[in-house]
Amino acid sequence: MAYSDKVIDHYEHPRNVGRMDDKAENVGTGMVGAPACGDVMRLQIQVNDQGIIEDAKFKTYGCGSAIASSSLLTEWVKGKSLDEAAQIKNTEIAEELALPPVKIHCSVLAEDAIKAAVSNIREKRGDKVEEAAG
Ligand code: FES
Repeated sequence: MAYSDKVIDHYEHPRNVGRMDDKAENVGTGMVGAPACGDVMRLQIQVNDQGIIEDAKFKTYGCGSAIASSSLLTEWVKGKSLDEAAQIKNTEIAEELALPPVKIHCSVLAEDAIKAAVSNIREKRGDKVEEAAG
């Protein structure tokens, strides 16, 4: 199958590969798997006191489209609020990377991963965020 130039670019030069301390209070971790193929993605976000994502890292054990989707996502979420990040849709990723229909589930994996990371950091911070806001 032919990958789009953007997929190849992210696949060959993945942005923000790495790992953060998932025990840290300001780090949210999303670890998800795709039932369709068994590929696994770990996405982590570092959030400041204002609830803005300052940094993001990923590690993906999967196909080129999954790697590209997670790489792109780490670029997109930086500077976003948790709400904004949780609203990113797999269709936006698939469109940006021109993924063919059989690779749509790879972008779904990325959407699931960011949602899981956001839930994780919300759980960790919970009331603290509201206190800070109020
Ligand atoms: Fe399953 Fe890409 S083939 S994530």
